[in-house]
Amino acid sequence: MTGSDFTVLPRHVAVIMDGNGRWAKRRGLSRSEGHIEGAKTFRRIGEYAGDLGIKHITFYAFSTENWARPQPEVEAIMHLFGDYLNEAYDRLEENRAKGIRLRFIGDRNGISGELCALMDTLEGLTADMDKVNLNIAINYGAQQEITRAAQSIAADVKAGLLSPEEITKDTITARLYTGEQPPVDLMIRPSGEQRISNFLLWQSAYAEFWYSDVLWPDFTERDFDEALKAYEKRNRRFGGI
Ligand code: FPP
Repeated sequence: MTGSDFTVLPRHVAVIMDGNGRWAKRRGLSRSEGHIEGAKTFRRIGEYAGDLGIKHITFYAFSTENWARPQPEVEAIMHLFGDYLNEAYDRLEENRAKGIRLRFIGDRNGISGELCALMDTLEGLTADMDKVNLNIAINYGAQQEITRAAQSIAADVKAGLLSPEEITKDTITARLYTGEQPPVDLMIRPSGEQRISNFLLWQSAYAEFWYSDVLWPDFTERDFDEALKAYEKRNRRFGGI
Protein backbone atom coordinates (compact mmCIF):
# COMPACT_ATOMS: atom_id res chain seq x y z
CA MET A 1 0.00 0.00 0.00
CA THR A 2 0.99 3.65 -0.26
CA GLY A 3 -0.27 6.62 1.71
CA SER A 4 -2.68 7.55 -1.09
CA ASP A 5 -4.52 4.20 -0.67
CA PHE A 6 -6.07 5.66 2.49
CA THR A 7 -8.67 8.44 2.55
CA VAL A 8 -7.44 9.62 5.93
CA LEU A 9 -4.24 8.79 7.79
CA PRO A 10 -3.87 9.15 11.55
CA ARG A 11 -1.46 11.92 12.44
CA HIS A 12 -0.11 10.03 15.42
CA VAL A 13 -0.03 6.23 15.81
CA ALA A 14 1.00 4.52 19.05
CA VAL A 15 2.06 0.88 19.14
CA ILE A 16 2.27 -1.49 22.12
CA MET A 17 4.71 -4.17 20.94
CA ASP A 18 3.14 -7.04 22.86
CA GLY A 19 3.47 -10.81 22.57
CA ASN A 20 7.22 -11.34 22.20
CA GLY A 21 7.36 -13.67 25.22
CA ARG A 22 4.47 -15.86 24.06
CA TRP A 23 5.88 -15.99 20.53
CA ALA A 24 9.14 -17.35 21.93
CA LYS A 25 7.47 -19.78 24.33
CA ARG A 26 5.46 -21.36 21.50
CA ARG A 27 8.73 -22.08 19.74
CA GLY A 28 10.57 -23.36 22.80
CA LEU A 29 12.84 -20.30 22.72
CA SER A 30 13.86 -17.91 25.50
CA ARG A 31 11.83 -14.73 26.07
CA SER A 32 14.88 -12.73 24.98
CA GLU A 33 14.76 -14.43 21.59
CA GLY A 34 11.18 -13.20 21.30
CA HIS A 35 12.41 -9.66 21.91
CA ILE A 36 15.09 -10.09 19.21
CA GLU A 37 12.31 -10.88 16.71
CA GLY A 38 10.19 -8.07 18.14
CA ALA A 39 13.00 -5.60 17.54
CA LYS A 40 13.11 -6.69 13.87
CA THR A 41 9.35 -6.08 13.57
CA PHE A 42 9.81 -2.66 15.16
CA ARG A 43 12.33 -1.70 12.44
CA ARG A 44 10.08 -3.00 9.64
CA ILE A 45 6.88 -1.34 10.85
CA GLY A 46 8.64 1.92 11.77
CA GLU A 47 10.06 2.14 8.26
CA TYR A 48 6.75 1.22 6.65
CA ALA A 49 4.80 3.81 8.66
CA GLY A 50 7.25 6.48 7.51
CA ASP A 51 6.93 5.38 3.88
CA LEU A 52 3.13 5.64 4.15
CA GLY A 53 3.41 9.21 5.40
CA ILE A 54 2.51 8.75 9.07
CA LYS A 55 3.98 11.87 10.68
CA HIS A 56 4.20 10.73 14.29
CA ILE A 57 4.62 7.20 15.61
CA THR A 58 5.41 6.08 19.13
CA PHE A 59 6.59 2.58 20.05
CA TYR A 60 6.44 1.24 23.61
CA ALA A 61 9.82 -0.46 24.14
CA PHE A 62 10.16 -0.57 27.94
CA SER A 63 7.84 0.59 30.70
CA THR A 64 8.59 1.88 34.20
CA GLU A 65 7.02 -1.40 35.39
CA ASN A 66 9.18 -3.65 33.17
CA TRP A 67 12.11 -3.48 35.65
CA ALA A 68 10.20 -6.15 37.60
CA ARG A 69 11.05 -8.71 34.89
CA PRO A 70 13.92 -11.19 35.38
CA GLN A 71 17.31 -9.46 35.12
CA PRO A 72 18.45 -11.35 31.97
CA GLU A 73 15.30 -10.25 30.15
CA VAL A 74 15.74 -6.59 31.19
CA GLU A 75 19.37 -6.75 30.05
CA ALA A 76 18.37 -8.33 26.74
CA ILE A 77 15.87 -5.54 26.00
CA MET A 78 18.40 -2.82 26.94
CA HIS A 79 20.98 -4.54 24.78
CA LEU A 80 18.62 -4.62 21.80
CA PHE A 81 17.79 -0.97 22.38
CA GLY A 82 21.53 -0.17 22.45
CA ASP A 83 22.01 -2.09 19.18
CA TYR A 84 19.27 -0.01 17.62
CA LEU A 85 20.81 3.26 18.83
CA ASN A 86 24.22 2.32 17.43
CA GLU A 87 22.66 1.29 14.14
CA ALA A 88 20.70 4.56 13.95
CA TYR A 89 23.96 6.43 14.54
CA ASP A 90 25.76 4.43 11.82
CA ARG A 91 22.86 5.08 9.43
CA LEU A 92 22.48 8.72 10.33
CA GLU A 93 22.73 10.00 6.77
CA GLU A 94 20.17 7.46 5.55
CA ASN A 95 17.75 8.46 8.36
CA ARG A 96 18.30 12.15 7.69
CA ALA A 97 17.64 11.62 3.97
CA LYS A 98 14.26 10.17 4.96
CA GLY A 99 13.61 13.12 7.27
CA ILE A 100 13.37 10.99 10.42
CA ARG A 101 13.50 12.79 13.74
CA LEU A 102 14.27 10.44 16.62
CA ARG A 103 13.00 11.10 20.12
CA PHE A 104 13.13 9.06 23.28
CA ILE A 105 10.40 9.52 25.82
CA GLY A 106 10.57 8.32 29.40
CA ASP A 107 12.65 8.69 32.54
CA ARG A 108 16.39 8.69 31.84
CA ASN A 109 17.09 7.76 35.48
CA GLY A 110 17.93 4.08 35.58
CA ILE A 111 19.11 3.96 31.95
CA SER A 112 22.88 3.53 31.53
CA GLY A 113 25.00 6.64 30.91
CA GLU A 114 26.21 5.16 27.63
CA LEU A 115 22.66 4.72 26.28
CA CYS A 116 21.62 8.18 27.56
CA ALA A 117 24.56 9.78 25.74
CA LEU A 118 23.60 8.01 22.51
CA MET A 119 19.97 9.06 22.89
CA ASP A 120 21.00 12.70 23.42
CA THR A 121 23.33 12.57 20.42
CA LEU A 122 20.68 11.09 18.11
CA GLU A 123 18.03 13.53 19.28
CA GLY A 124 20.41 16.41 18.64
CA LEU A 125 21.54 15.19 15.23
CA THR A 126 17.99 14.66 13.95
CA ALA A 127 16.32 17.67 15.66
CA ASP A 128 15.99 19.55 12.36
CA MET A 129 14.17 16.68 10.59
CA ASP A 130 10.42 17.06 10.13
CA LYS A 131 9.06 14.35 7.86
CA VAL A 132 8.64 11.56 10.39
CA ASN A 133 8.77 11.91 14.12
CA LEU A 134 9.71 8.53 15.61
CA ASN A 135 9.32 8.30 19.38
CA ILE A 136 10.61 5.36 21.34
CA ALA A 137 9.21 5.04 24.86
CA ILE A 138 11.92 3.69 27.16
CA ASN A 139 11.53 3.54 30.94
CA TYR A 140 8.22 5.23 30.20
CA GLY A 141 5.08 5.33 32.33
CA ALA A 142 2.23 7.76 31.71
CA GLN A 143 1.46 8.18 35.41
CA GLN A 144 5.11 9.03 36.05
CA GLU A 145 5.01 11.45 33.09
CA ILE A 146 1.91 13.25 34.40
CA THR A 147 3.35 13.35 37.94
CA ARG A 148 6.52 14.92 36.58
CA ALA A 149 4.48 17.55 34.72
CA ALA A 150 2.52 18.32 37.92
CA GLN A 151 5.77 18.72 39.87
CA SER A 152 7.18 21.11 37.28
CA ILE A 153 3.98 23.19 37.32
CA ALA A 154 3.94 23.24 41.14
CA ALA A 155 7.57 24.41 41.16
CA ASP A 156 6.69 27.28 38.80
CA VAL A 157 3.69 28.26 40.94
CA LYS A 158 5.90 28.20 44.05
CA ALA A 159 8.48 30.38 42.32
CA GLY A 160 5.73 32.86 41.38
CA LEU A 161 6.17 32.23 37.63
CA LEU A 162 2.66 30.87 37.16
CA SER A 163 -0.63 31.33 39.01
CA PRO A 164 -3.04 28.37 39.57
CA GLU A 165 -5.67 30.10 37.38
CA GLU A 166 -3.23 30.17 34.48
CA ILE A 167 -2.91 26.37 34.44
CA THR A 168 -4.78 24.98 31.44
CA LYS A 169 -4.92 21.70 29.54
CA ASP A 170 -2.20 23.11 27.29
CA THR A 171 0.07 23.84 30.28
CA ILE A 172 -0.01 20.15 31.15
CA THR A 173 0.30 18.93 27.54
CA ALA A 174 3.38 21.09 26.97
CA ARG A 175 5.16 19.55 29.97
CA LEU A 176 4.68 15.94 28.87
CA TYR A 177 7.54 14.17 27.08
CA THR A 178 5.60 14.48 23.81
CA GLY A 179 5.33 18.28 24.23
CA GLU A 180 3.96 19.94 21.12
CA GLN A 181 3.29 16.67 19.23
CA PRO A 182 -0.33 15.96 18.24
CA PRO A 183 -2.45 13.63 20.40
CA VAL A 184 -2.63 9.93 19.56
CA ASP A 185 -5.25 9.18 16.88
CA LEU A 186 -4.75 5.43 16.67
CA MET A 187 -3.50 3.02 19.34
CA ILE A 188 -2.48 -0.44 18.11
CA ARG A 189 -2.11 -3.38 20.47
CA PRO A 190 -1.46 -6.86 19.09
CA SER A 191 -1.33 -10.21 20.93
CA GLY A 192 -4.94 -10.37 22.09
CA GLU A 193 -4.54 -8.11 25.13
CA GLN A 194 -6.92 -5.14 25.39
CA ARG A 195 -5.33 -2.81 27.93
CA ILE A 196 -3.56 0.55 27.80
CA SER A 197 -0.82 -0.46 30.29
CA ASN A 198 0.12 3.06 31.46
CA PHE A 199 0.96 4.16 27.89
CA LEU A 200 0.26 7.74 26.72
CA LEU A 201 -2.82 8.11 28.97
CA TRP A 202 -3.20 11.87 28.51
CA GLN A 203 -2.31 11.84 24.81
CA SER A 204 -4.82 9.03 24.04
CA ALA A 205 -7.88 10.78 25.49
CA TYR A 206 -9.71 10.47 22.14
CA ALA A 207 -7.62 7.78 20.45
CA GLU A 208 -9.24 5.01 18.44
CA PHE A 209 -8.11 1.58 19.62
CA TRP A 210 -7.31 -1.32 17.34
CA TYR A 211 -6.52 -4.80 18.62
CA SER A 212 -5.31 -7.93 16.93
CA ASP A 213 -4.51 -11.47 18.04
CA VAL A 214 -1.25 -11.53 16.06
CA LEU A 215 1.84 -11.65 18.29
CA TRP A 216 4.19 -8.70 17.73
CA PRO A 217 7.05 -10.69 16.10
CA ASP A 218 4.52 -11.95 13.50
CA PHE A 219 3.01 -8.50 12.91
CA THR A 220 3.29 -7.51 9.25
CA GLU A 221 2.80 -4.47 7.05
CA ARG A 222 -0.57 -6.02 6.07
CA ASP A 223 -1.65 -5.97 9.73
CA PHE A 224 -0.65 -2.31 9.91
CA ASP A 225 -2.71 -1.65 6.74
CA GLU A 226 -5.66 -3.39 8.38
CA ALA A 227 -5.40 -1.10 11.42
CA LEU A 228 -5.30 1.97 9.15
CA LYS A 229 -8.27 0.71 7.11
CA ALA A 230 -10.26 0.22 10.34
CA TYR A 231 -9.28 3.72 11.48
CA GLU A 232 -10.46 5.18 8.16
CA LYS A 233 -13.97 3.85 8.87
CA ARG A 234 -14.23 5.10 12.44
CA ASN A 235 -16.60 7.98 13.09
CA ARG A 236 -14.70 10.22 15.47
CA ARG A 237 -16.92 12.56 17.45
CA PHE A 238 -14.62 13.86 20.20
CA GLY A 239 -17.54 13.96 22.63
CA GLY A 240 -19.88 15.64 20.11
CA ILE A 241 -22.64 13.95 18.10
C1 FPP B 1 6.06 -6.86 25.42
O1 FPP B 1 5.94 -8.25 25.11
C2 FPP B 1 7.34 -6.38 24.93
C3 FPP B 1 8.28 -5.72 25.69
C4 FPP B 1 8.08 -5.45 27.12
C5 FPP B 1 9.57 -5.30 25.10
C6 FPP B 1 9.52 -4.71 23.72
C7 FPP B 1 10.90 -4.59 23.22
C8 FPP B 1 11.32 -4.82 21.95
C9 FPP B 1 10.40 -5.12 20.85
C10 FPP B 1 12.77 -4.78 21.58
C11 FPP B 1 13.60 -3.60 21.98
C12 FPP B 1 13.16 -2.31 21.45
C13 FPP B 1 13.74 -1.56 20.50
C14 FPP B 1 13.22 -0.19 20.26
C15 FPP B 1 14.86 -2.02 19.64
P1 FPP B 1 5.93 -9.30 26.29
O2 FPP B 1 7.34 -9.66 26.61
O3 FPP B 1 5.18 -8.76 27.46
O4 FPP B 1 5.18 -10.50 25.64
P2 FPP B 1 4.25 -11.56 26.40
O5 FPP B 1 3.04 -10.81 26.87
O6 FPP B 1 3.93 -12.55 25.32
O7 FPP B 1 5.05 -12.17 27.52
